[in-house]
Amino acid sequence: MAKRKPKKKKMKGIILAGGTATRLFPLTATTSKQLLPIYDRQMIFYPLNILIKAGIREILIIVAPEHSGQFLNLLGSIFEKYNIHLEFKVQKVPKGLADAFIAGEDFIDNDNVAMILGDNIFEDSARLARDIKLFKKGGIIFAKEVPDPERFGIVEFDKNGKVISIEEKPEKPKSHYCVTGIYVYDHNVAKIAKKLSPSERGEIEVTDINKKYLKMGKLAVNKIKGAWLDAGTFDSLLEAGNIVKEKKIYRDFDPIINKAIKEFNKELKILAKKRLA
Ligand code: DAU
Repeated sequence: MAKRKPKKKKMKGIILAGGTATRLFPLTATTSKQLLPIYDRQMIFYPLNILIKAGIREILIIVAPEHSGQFLNLLGSIFEKYNIHLEFKVQKVPKGLADAFIAGEDFIDNDNVAMILGDNIFEDSARLARDIKLFKKGGIIFAKEVPDPERFGIVEFDKNGKVISIEEKPEKPKSHYCVTGIYVYDHNVAKIAKKLSPSERGEIEVTDINKKYLKMGKLAVNKIKGAWLDAGTFDSLLEAGNIVKEKKIYRDFDPIINKAIKEFNKELKILAKKRLA
């Protein structure tokens, strides 16, 4: 009997959009950080754009319990006719970034996964989408030079560009290359995440997943160009909006996202008219 070909692995997407965002109080007293506006649309559309541009059609959005209704109001059905399937999962307690892969274990199943932090804004979405599409095995993370490396996960390279170490928020950073909030892994990631112990800050760290892939010799680190921000403070939130406007990043959205937003706006206008009638 002829051997059955193994099923081709899909790339699925996860957006981690939970957390308490205390640094943005009182803005986040009434809504999720990832639903705050960055220029002309909500923050969540920026990571969604990268995943959709990469051709991903199954996306899991992980949200805090108090915000699930708001995410559904905005995104519940706007991509349906474009064959993009969105799922939502509530993360009761923010246990750490690696929890995205435990919460998403059934969703990932035996496929590959690209995970993006819901508050990360990247200028070069096209390059990231291309790298996600080219993913074959192991893991890929994306590094960017920053002036304040003690705030991030940090990658150390040797003089040939080979990765030597990765550390989470080191007191004495060994480089200025920070790990940005986009991570691509094969299906083993859930198994790896489940074996992690919490760090000193009480979270299961995505940095520990990266260390594991590095140890196995299966981690690629791609350096990225262009602006990158995690919009978690008043200043970075404002800066992200200004950068999107100045660099015209709003032009780089996938046509599917633009069409879906336009149609949604139309529906909202009809509803608003009805309310006034
Ligand atoms: O932004 C890149 C950095 O993100 C990396 O350089 C670090 O290695 C990585 O640990 C992470 O650092 P932070 O400590 O800044 O991550 P933060 O706790 O701010 O979480 C990032 C986003 O993920 C935030 O928007 C809230 C969301 N989140 C966070 C946790 C811990 C969740 O949805 N659930 C969670 O359990």
